[in-house]
Amino acid sequence: MNVLVFDTEEQIGVAAGYYMCGQVLQKPDSVLGLATGSTPLKPYAHMIDLYNEGAVDFSKVTTFNLDEYCKLDVNDKNSYHKFMHENLFDHINIPEENINFLDGNAEDMDKECKEYEEKIKKAGGIDIQLLGIGSNGHIAFNEPADSFQRWSHIVALKESTIKDNSRFFNSIEEVPTHAVTMGIGSIIQAKRILIIALGEHKAKAVKQVIDGQVTPQCPASVLQFHKDVTLMLDKGAASLL
Ligand code: F6R
Repeated sequence: MNVLVFDTEEQIGVAAGYYMCGQVLQKPDSVLGLATGSTPLKPYAHMIDLYNEGAVDFSKVTTFNLDEYCKLDVNDKNSYHKFMHENLFDHINIPEENINFLDGNAEDMDKECKEYEEKIKKAGGIDIQLLGIGSNGHIAFNEPADSFQRWSHIVALKESTIKDNSRFFNSIEEVPTHAVTMGIGSIIQAKRILIIALGEHKAKAVKQVIDGQVTPQCPASVLQFHKDVTLMLDKGAASLL
């Protein structure tokens, strides 16, 4: 694993923004796997800056987001659709039809998940997957469990994740209890992975990912088996290394 420690979140935003855009410069029709949450905000802002400077063109890019809440309207301020449009898609020239999400309101969730996996395959697979990490070691919404869930699936969110994410909602009761997520198998098929962790509350999970045991109790630890992972950390997240 390529572990890079930075002084500030700002620096990580710049480095990660360049990293993602570098992929697009090398291959204009790249397939990007994208994440939501606080972690990618600065990287997305820097990708927008690079687009505004004319340095990068997203017109041929395809994206697949990792996950979405269930039973939340796509226009809800907390939906991941909304988040991605507000923080990236509305500010760059990616065609709407190239943007892909799992549908958290699909009637037949099994079918939805299978079709998403098929779509990723048809697009040629994910060239680079951007990931955050939960304080409990989750990636996407693959929560600590007794086994790794391979493909996209519906998941009941852990109490700790509901608590972590309640900061975006008016109250903890409003946080959806379920989400639909890409599986561990879908994630590690990406050709390259960029994972970012910010803050001391992620330090324990980060330590486990780098030199702990590979276990579904820390889903991100599976990244030890991937051949091209870059981990960008701030000092807090790197504090136990
Ligand atoms: C979101 C996602 C989650 C987050 C993780 C960290 O699409 O996949 O796994 O990356 O919960 O969230 P933040 O960045 O808000 O700390």
